Amino acid sequence: MSLAVEVTGLVKCYGKIRVLDGIDLEIPAGTVMGLLGPNGAGKTTAVRIVTTLLRPSAGTVRVMGVDALKEPARVRTRLGLSGQYAAVDANLSGFENLRMVARLYGMTHKQAATRAGELLGALGLEYAAGRRAGTYSGGMARRLDLAGALVSRPPVVVLDEPTTGLDPRARLDMWRVIGELVDDGTTVLLTTQYLEEADLLADRITVIDRGRVIARGSADELKTSIGGDKLTVSLAAGQDPEPAMKVLAEVGIGEPKYEAGEDQIVVVVGDGTRTMVEALRRLDDASVHVVDAAVHRPSLDDVFLSLTGKSASRKSLPRSTEVQEEVLS
Ligand SMILES: Nc1ncnc2c1ncn2[C@@H]1O[C@H](COP(=O)(O)OP(=O)(O)O)[C@@H](O)[C@H]1O
Ligand SMILES: [Mg+2]
Repeated sequence: MSLAVEVTGLVKCYGKIRVLDGIDLEIPAGTVMGLLGPNGAGKTTAVRIVTTLLRPSAGTVRVMGVDALKEPARVRTRLGLSGQYAAVDANLSGFENLRMVARLYGMTHKQAATRAGELLGALGLEYAAGRRAGTYSGGMARRLDLAGALVSRPPVVVLDEPTTGLDPRARLDMWRVIGELVDDGTTVLLTTQYLEEADLLADRITVIDRGRVIARGSADELKTSIGGDKLTVSLAAGQDPEPAMKVLAEVGIGEPKYEAGEDQIVVVVGDGTRTMVEALRRLDDASVHVVDAAVHRPSLDDVFLSLTGKSASRKSLPRSTEVQEEVLS
């Protein structure tokens, strides 16, 4: 197995704050790694180090076999980076933006124009090629930024929260584009706050929190590790929960839990939807009056809650007042 990206013992400190505290990552060539974590977990810091924009306090990074600390310029020719905040010139058209990037990569005028046209087509932006990028929607700007990262056909593409802040439609478009990229054999390192996104796009997921790896595995492995789907059954107010508890104990994996205040019972189940249908049939047979039932797939928040005992949406490390940027030369 050849590794496209190999990160060992990555540490980044700002003053006394350890933003990254020993991250290891191995991304086999041609696969997608999802780096999953809440706001402030250290995702952007990690990808900025991998893409040579930031120097780590300790650790090693290799991209396509090249040492990113010793030979950052060589690593940069093997990487495309598309960030959370699109790096697009608002005054240029989509076409001009891409042609400019292609020229920066040393292509001739003609090559640059051809490449810009190809990418606008591939990312579904042909219709807006001549429009000022400043008039693009958030989703379009993000795709244009991604196109910029693909200009030189890098073997490794790094996407920092490619869909955060996008509406559902734009998110679907972005997922399609990333899916096509992956089909072409590109190695992708993708950061996200959404388990469903990692689930859909990533072969392997590394979950980080407060600069540490707290879990690794495929999406299925992560979900299974926290115990499968949750079935919630709401009973008519004031109803004796006992008969329903008995039924749900039979269909569920774990012990059902009765939440008295809500008149509802929650139980962990294997195959959520199928189990719900079975449970409702049996509850009906037992003459239990059910007012609502829902299956809840584990979310990132559930994974976090289970792994850390804390909700993912909480605030993480305090932001240090000291802001430093060390760009490698
Ligand atoms: N230049 C900096 N100086 C001080 N602290 C920083 C700096 N950059 C990031 N941090 C802190 O490092 C932590 C991780 O940030 P970041 O990598 O941006 O997380 P994420 O991308 O997962 O949201 C945060 O607590 C953030 O405030
Ligand atoms: Mg970030």
